[in-house]
Amino acid sequence: MDLLKEKIKKDGTVLPGNVLKVDNFLNHQVDAKLMDQIGEEFARLFKDEKITKVVTVESSGIAPALTTAIHLGVPLIFARKHKSVTLTDDLYTAKVYSYTKKVSNNISIDKRFLNADDHILIIDDFLANGQAVQGLLEIAKLADVSVSGIGIVIEKSFQKGHAMIEKTGIRLESLARIASLKDQSVTFVE
Ligand code: G4P
Ligand code: NA
Ligand code: NA
Repeated sequence: MDLLKEKIKKDGTVLPGNVLKVDNFLNHQVDAKLMDQIGEEFARLFKDEKITKVVTVESSGIAPALTTAIHLGVPLIFARKHKSVTLTDDLYTAKVYSYTKKVSNNISIDKRFLNADDHILIIDDFLANGQAVQGLLEIAKLADVSVSGIGIVIEKSFQKGHAMIEKTGIRLESLARIASLKDQSVTFVE
């Protein structure tokens, strides 16, 4: 998606440790118009997959997942990282390990929101090591739902996540694929 790549070039900054900072349009301040165009693009790519629900993890996945859900005309479910006071204990839970933070956290979705006849589309802002996606795939398995696709806004193709998803055979669409963040500069996959 050229518009997104231009935005990354213009407004993204590369931090030490192969981290791309995009908090001025994706991770903190959100470019609402761009999010809408991202949602429109995911909806176009996955329109024939009979998606019944879009699923993400809070918090940064919610913005692109919401616009995708709007364009597909289906509900959005975001997995929660912290136990809500209103959550019952009827949850599907998976453990997610963060390589960056070196901690494991649980993500959960209430059993009421996933049914065996669902065809879900997983959306996330970043794909790095793929731990968040793996957690959602684990929850999908527990809930016996089928995963019709995975949509990623920014993929760091040089980390483990892309290869991990490829092995599952699930359709993956990443709108911007980054080959390298070396020397403080962003190089996209050709
Ligand atoms: P993974 O899910 O791909 O395995 O991600 P990893 O553990 O490597 O990274 C932990 C968090 O850092 C995730 O967000 C992930 O989206 C984010 N992240 C990874 N690489 C980058 C990067 O280059 N730039 C930015 N901006 N974020 C990156 P999270 O902790 O789940 O946070 P949030 O959704 O609450 O924002
Ligand atoms: Na994030
Ligand atoms: Na995320």
